[in-house]
Amino acid sequence: MSTTSPHRAAVHAQFDPRAAAYLSSSVHAAGPDLGRAAERVAALTPRPTLALDLGCGAGHLSFALAPAVGSICAVDPSAAMLEQVKSEAAVRGLDNVATLLGSAEALPFADASVDLVATRYSAHHWTALDAAFDEIARVLAPGGHLLLIDVEAPADALVDTHLQTIELLRDRSHVRNRSDAEWRALLRRAGVDAPSVERWDTRLEFASWIARMRTPPAKAAVIRAMLDEAPAEVRAALRVEPCGSFHVSTALWWGQRAAA
Ligand SMILES: C[S@@+](CC[C@H](N)C(=O)[O-])C[C@H]1O[C@@H](n2cnc3c(N)ncnc32)[C@H](O)[C@@H]1O
Repeated sequence: MSTTSPHRAAVHAQFDPRAAAYLSSSVHAAGPDLGRAAERVAALTPRPTLALDLGCGAGHLSFALAPAVGSICAVDPSAAMLEQVKSEAAVRGLDNVATLLGSAEALPFADASVDLVATRYSAHHWTALDAAFDEIARVLAPGGHLLLIDVEAPADALVDTHLQTIELLRDRSHVRNRSDAEWRALLRRAGVDAPSVERWDTRLEFASWIARMRTPPAKAAVIRAMLDEAPAEVRAALRVEPCGSFHVSTALWWGQRAAA
């Protein structure tokens, strides 16, 4: 995707002014997936020399992985997010976190030069997914690891349609949550054939979920109406609460590229 495409403009409009909110967001700053990601990477021998965090946002995944790698490069098209990463890395005393203004579709790294590619809650914003995973395949070294954390689209089409619709109403830079099969196909594209998967129930607290993206009140009201009026099977699958909070499945896919 061009760096000036209308969708990229929406990404900037959504994320640049919200960088500080992402640093403090409990959904992003905490969560069992971060700890599991860190454990998996810490168990690797040899220790990855160079890791990438694609769509790093305010840098939570980079901070979690930094102690277990030689260096990690936090990549994001939002300069405001990267400023958060730089200042928070300094606060935490992490001197092996670098930042790079860029995007997953065009990585300025040599072929087979990266030992670990990680990405968390970002790929559902990427429009050119095939290009991005081809690029990951290009930079990931044989034997290198790939870690993907994202929302897993519901298998039921009706539930999926409701979830994708409210996601887009809330955040116009949302593209699509993918199913387990779709994420796996993308990992295969990057050379990772048999990833493991771990899932978590993630509660999205309505008020902070809306506030984080500063969703206009009119759209927030439509989301509430959609959740309130959704068919019972959708409300049950998303476990919609009286306050509008609801639950999604987030997952961590983890695998290794075949050694040369
Ligand atoms: C929800 S935030 C990231 C959360 C962060 N990874 C974390 O764990 O807290 C999504 C990020 O993806 C970035 N993004 C959007 N499109 C991208 C692309 N094509 N390549 C890389 N990053 C992208 C946005 O700028 C934004 O900072």
